[in-house]
Amino acid sequence: MSVFLASDTHGAHRKLQASQNDFLLLLGDYPDLLDYFDLTQGILARLFPQDVIVDVLNHINNKDRVKARESMRKAAGSFPDLFNLVKTHVQQCYTDLFASLPCKSKLIFGNTDFPELLQKYASPDTEIIGQIQVFATDGLRIAMISGVEPGPHSFGMPGEVDSKIYASWVADLPPVDILCSHGPPAVIDLTYDVSAERDEGGSEALLEYIHKFRPRYHFYGHIHQPKKRQAVIGSTVCINLACFRDRPWMVRMI
Ligand SMILES: [Fe+2]
Repeated sequence: MSVFLASDTHGAHRKLQASQNDFLLLLGDYPDLLDYFDLTQGILARLFPQDVIVDVLNHINNKDRVKARESMRKAAGSFPDLFNLVKTHVQQCYTDLFASLPCKSKLIFGNTDFPELLQKYASPDTEIIGQIQVFATDGLRIAMISGVEPGPHSFGMPGEVDSKIYASWVADLPPVDILCSHGPPAVIDLTYDVSAERDEGGSEALLEYIHKFRPRYHFYGHIHQPKKRQAVIGSTVCINLACFRDRPWMVRMI
């Protein structure tokens, strides 16, 4: 049996390769809401006209969330129940995800996930971690923590977790060998996205945990085009696995 890790599948879950006896740890962001490299792809691209998508992204890139929300609201006006419409598409994505996972899996949720839907549609071979879970395999202690703290450009996505609550989950984690989360620790080289040209934010709580307990590895995703994909903090090697959709690779942990 091997244990594989991947993050930010964003709809590309059919490319996950493992044998039936293996184990998968997935680190969040499963829906294909929008492909920033191809604005014609993704759930939002299927729902909104291209000019609206471009307009909203321009406002976000200009750090003008008010205008971005305004554009979104204007466009959303043509859909009587946009939130539920998006949910229906995400639900279809999850149904497909759970039908195509090649082996037993543990999943945390990322900012673009709908935690309740993940729980609702999970298959018997998958476990959705609602907050934190610590387990051991092959002599290694592994911690998985769900969600991500709101960043400076946060849009109030369903998988975001209030910073105080997130910090309380981190505070409940014992020392482990391997830490898995959706977002990175608050280190600018790891949180800065060179494609979006902005700091997406990271977790101070995770950074404190790393300093205090010095896990061997910290695996995460979330930042699709990071300034640094890997860094060493103290004795902990931090590795960004995002984004599987754009670069389908998995790490074999055991
Ligand atoms: Fe993502």
